[in-house]
Amino acid sequence: MAASTRDNTGESSPPVKPAVRAMSGYTLVQPDCPVKLNQNECPFDVPEDLKREIMDEALAGNWGRYPGFVPLETRKAIGARHGLGPEHILIGNGSNELIQAVFQAAVGQGDRVVLPAPTFTLYGLMARVADADIRTVYLKRGNRDHDNRNDRDNLDNQELTFDVDRLMEESAQPGVRLVVLCSPNNPTGSMIQPEEVAAIAGSTRGLVVVDEAYYEFGGVSCIELLERHPNLVITRTFSKALGAAGLRLGYLAADPSLAREIEKVKLPYNVNAISLIAARTLIGQDALIQERAALIRAERQRVYEGLRELPGIRPCPSHANFVLFEAERPVAGIFHGLIDRGVLIRDVSRYPMLERGMRVTIGLPEENDAFLDALREVLAA
Ligand SMILES: Cc1ncc(COP(=O)(O)O)c(C=O)c1O
Repeated sequence: MAASTRDNTGESSPPVKPAVRAMSGYTLVQPDCPVKLNQNECPFDVPEDLKREIMDEALAGNWGRYPGFVPLETRKAIGARHGLGPEHILIGNGSNELIQAVFQAAVGQGDRVVLPAPTFTLYGLMARVADADIRTVYLKRGNRDHDNRNDRDNLDNQELTFDVDRLMEESAQPGVRLVVLCSPNNPTGSMIQPEEVAAIAGSTRGLVVVDEAYYEFGGVSCIELLERHPNLVITRTFSKALGAAGLRLGYLAADPSLAREIEKVKLPYNVNAISLIAARTLIGQDALIQERAALIRAERQRVYEGLRELPGIRPCPSHANFVLFEAERPVAGIFHGLIDRGVLIRDVSRYPMLERGMRVTIGLPEENDAFLDALREVLAA
């Protein structure tokens, strides 16, 4: 019989850590909708000629052998893009895997982890698995300079910004092992400036991760701070602007002495041979990435303005490939009304501060139109 323990109601449950049992887990409601704007994916696939180039190289390799113990060529190609040597770079099966490796390397039971809120839920989940002491720093509501400044007015502009003073205060506390900043932030689209990250990194004895999964849509990076801040880790992904979420590829850049420590906890051969080839090919596609990111940014502005026209809807200015918006009405009716009309977005109303929040990914122009039309209909119904 499988091992189990009994809780105080006498029910038997699998023998896992109490912290894990207490978690609700990372789940996603995923009804089949023709317009899928719920996961911040790239609406453009990898072009066919690049797919063929990648597969031709993969076909020429021996799939019976492990990839190189250290994927040096791919690390070199990624590092070169940032003017860094391969010793600064680690490659992951998605950037999430590397963020998890940072947690494993740095955070033990009772260690303090500083997390803004609302932010990407995975950080909190990993902190809870580690049994860490989570210190939450809520975002602030208020206006600030941003891309979307030339909209009609600024009156009810509900931008959510990082509370840098509070982040510095919390990060400077003894016992802090890790601070995770997502910039541009999921799900709000907020950005933190490099000088602010530098101040936080300078004020803490812990590590500071900046998750730049949405970098290409905001254009502000902290990678240049690595030279002066050996406690900094930057993560990037191939899942968003690079359009390769299905291949599961991400990387981190850090000081070589820190990268070596994180590498110790990463599983060997964590990225398969085909994805390693794809990473080398895709990382060099600057023109394509720029062109696609520019299109998404232009569409983001159009969607933002479209949302501002709608009664009872308040969009939040965004630096990413999605827009957060809040509604005067309860979220459930709007979310399901959109599904009934074939449009799937993300209900983020369970995130802290976002009781009336939804997040829509920027898709192709016709998908964005379908979303705005469907929302208009739902609000009028
Ligand atoms: C902030 C953030 N980081 C990382 C990821 C996931 O990246 P990857 O696909 O590289 O694991 C996401 C995906 O939605 C994200 O929103």
